[in-house]
Amino acid sequence: MAADHQPVMLDEVLHYLDVQPADVVVDCTLGMGGHAAAIAARLTAGGKLIARDRDVESLELARQRLQGLEDRIVFDPGKFSGLRAALTRLGFPVADRVLADCGISMYQLKAPQRGFSFLEEGPLDMRMGATEEGPTAGEIVNFYSEKDIAQILEAGEERRGRRIARAIVRARPVETTTQLSGIIRRALPPMDRSRIHPSTLSFQSLRLAVNQEMEELQALLDALPEVVKPGGRVVFLTFHSLEDRPVKQAFQRLAREGRARLLNRHVATATDEETRRNPAARSAKLRALEMTGS
Ligand SMILES: C[S@@+](CC[C@H](N)C(=O)[O-])C[C@H]1O[C@@H](n2cnc3c(N)ncnc32)[C@H](O)[C@@H]1O
Repeated sequence: MAADHQPVMLDEVLHYLDVQPADVVVDCTLGMGGHAAAIAARLTAGGKLIARDRDVESLELARQRLQGLEDRIVFDPGKFSGLRAALTRLGFPVADRVLADCGISMYQLKAPQRGFSFLEEGPLDMRMGATEEGPTAGEIVNFYSEKDIAQILEAGEERRGRRIARAIVRARPVETTTQLSGIIRRALPPMDRSRIHPSTLSFQSLRLAVNQEMEELQALLDALPEVVKPGGRVVFLTFHSLEDRPVKQAFQRLAREGRARLLNRHVATATDEETRRNPAARSAKLRALEMTGS
């Protein structure tokens, strides 16, 4: 799995990060280590890659993939919200480069036991860090009120959240991903089952809630002025508009306040060639920033 992993928009990420040999680089989303391998290869022993991910399982797989480059990598499990404290603890309070490739990895999506995929039978888990505290998706659908479930679904852009929440509550207990997917499909009129799979937005919404993804993303954006050196660069890859919006807003605010310079005025996307080769890149949006330090 790790060996055939294709990091999204790698050329563009490297172009905008512009890593220098002695840089301290933070990869906040190590995943399978695709971007990290290319970044570490650009560092000399004087540089450091702080490789972080909230998923300890992914961190271990990436560690194996990155064998031979360990002299310049510090593996550090943890969430976006813990970045500031982690950098201080590790003795690198400010970084030259920060990368965040948001969302879940193909590895997480395709592991049925993690419960992210509605195409594979699995438990309703959806925690990015398999050892993190709950709630799991199963706890949400089985124990939250219909109103709260509807709110969670609508917050994740599933506008039919109330109808789906009602069907979920009626069908309790809901044990597996495919069972939940069947409930969602039957709750929607056939004409609504159009372009995307009927479960796509509900599963995305549950995942966002389980992992507090929007809160985590905001915590990382808020930390940027303190964790990136003047002249340092930041690159974010996002995969849906809910993620891209806060990144765009935070970058524009920093630029307006004269604390940073936008490196791309218009969001960068994957080339047609990459999208053909790697469909996961289709919805990717890249934004890059240089801190100016005031
Ligand atoms: C799209 S994957 C990264 C893929 C990676 N760039 C590569 O080339 O292999 C996103 C990773 O970020 C991690 N992640 C997502 N949100 C996080 C957060 N708030 N804190 C730490 N890690 C997070 C996920 O566990 C996942 O492994």
